[in-house]
Amino acid sequence: MLNVEEIRKDFPILDKKVHGKKLVYFDNAATTHKPRQVIDAIVEFYTKYNANVHRGFHALSQEASELYEEAHEIIAKFINAFSWDEVVFCYNTTDAMNIVAYSWGLKNVEEGDEIILTVMDHHSTMLPWRRVAELKGAKVKYVDIDSEGLIDYAGLEEKVTERTKVIVFPVMSNVLGTINDVKRIVRIARKVDAIVVADGAQSVPHMPTNVRDLGIDFLGFSGHKMLGPTGIGVLWGRRDRLEEMMPFKVGGDTIKDVTLDSVVWHDLPWRFEAGTPNIAGAIGLAEAAKYLMKIGMENVRQHEVELVEYTFKRIESLRTEIQVYGTRSTRYRGGVIAFNIKGLNHHTVGKALDLFGIAVRTGMHCAHPLHYRLGLKGSVRASYYIYNTLEEIDYFVETLSKIISLREVLKKQPVEEVCTGT
Ligand code: ALA
Repeated sequence: MLNVEEIRKDFPILDKKVHGKKLVYFDNAATTHKPRQVIDAIVEFYTKYNANVHRGFHALSQEASELYEEAHEIIAKFINAFSWDEVVFCYNTTDAMNIVAYSWGLKNVEEGDEIILTVMDHHSTMLPWRRVAELKGAKVKYVDIDSEGLIDYAGLEEKVTERTKVIVFPVMSNVLGTINDVKRIVRIARKVDAIVVADGAQSVPHMPTNVRDLGIDFLGFSGHKMLGPTGIGVLWGRRDRLEEMMPFKVGGDTIKDVTLDSVVWHDLPWRFEAGTPNIAGAIGLAEAAKYLMKIGMENVRQHEVELVEYTFKRIESLRTEIQVYGTRSTRYRGGVIAFNIKGLNHHTVGKALDLFGIAVRTGMHCAHPLHYRLGLKGSVRASYYIYNTLEEIDYFVETLSKIISLREVLKKQPVEEVCTGT
C-alpha cells in the first residue's frame, strides 16, 4: 500500500488553490506532477554539473557525461532491459514512435506489406506508421475493439498474414484504460515474423514493465507522464533490431567518424541520439524512475486499482446519468476513466469541474479514431496517479452530482470547441 499522505508532501503543486478551491488533479494521463526530488535533481545539475556531454575532456563535461550515461542505466533497470545501451533518449512517445517508423519501418516495409494498428491507438502511435504505409505503398489494417473495449484478439489473428511486417498497439489505452495482453499479441506476431511495437505512454508510468519478459521489439514512453520533466522520452529496442536500423535523425554524436564522402555510425544508443541531448531532462527522468522504484510499481498499480474500483462504486448511484467507457474489470483496466454526462457537452462538464478545482481532460484525447469508433464527439477523462486519494474521488463524485443537478442551466452555456478538442 502507498503512504499517499507522505507522497503528497513531495509534490508542492498539490497545495495550490484553483478558483479558490483545493486542486484535485485528475489529468495524469496528459502529464503528471513532479516531486521535489526530480525538481532538485534538475536544479542540482544546472548548478553543479552543467556542461555538454561526450564533447570534452574537462571535468564538468566528464561529470555531466557520467550522470547522463547513468540515467540510461537507471531507465534500463526500471524496465528490466538487458543492457543500458538499448535505452535511447528522445523527446517523448511520439518521437520514439517516429524513430522506429522512419528508421526500421522505411528500411524494412515494402510495397504490398501490411502494418497492423488498432482503433484504440492514439495519434502518436498511429500516424508515423500511416506515413510509412503512404511512403512505401504498404497497407494499413486496423484491429477493432470488442464491446468491453478490449482488443479483438480473434480479429487480430484473422488480419495477420505472411505480408504483415509490424503490429503496433498501446499497452494501455489513454481513453478506455484497457490494458492489452502484450504476450498474446507477441505470440500472434511471431507466427508471421512481424515485429511488435508497443506504445508504453500510459502503461510504463502505472504498472511494472519488464521488456525481457514481454518479448516485444520496441517500446516507447514519455518522461513527463511518469513524474519526470517534459521533453524527455525513451525508446527501448531489442539490440538486434536497433542494430539493423539506420539512424533517422543524424548529426552530432550519431557518428564515430565522418569524411567528406563517408560516415561510420556510432555505437548504441548514441547513433539515435542526434545533437546535444536533453541532459537535465534525462537526469530528472532517472530521478523519477528511482522515486517510482522506491515506491514499487506493483504498489502504484494496486493503488490505482483501488481508486478505480472506488470510483465505480461511488458513481453507481449516478449510473443512469453517466456513461463510462471501457471495461469495469480492473484486471484489464488502468487508472483512466473516460465518461460523459447525458445531455451535457464534455467541455461544459470539464469547465464546470474546473470551477470546483478538479482538473480533467476533455475532448478526444489525441485519439479521434477511437472516439469516432465509439460514436462520440468527445469525452471527459479522469486519470489517476500515486498522489490521488479516495477523499478526492468522494469530492469528484459529489461535484458530478451537483453538475447533473445543474444540467438544464449548464446546457445553455456556450461551448468552446477549442484547444482541448484534440
Ligand atoms: N497526451 C495525450 C493524453 O493526454 C495522449 O492522453
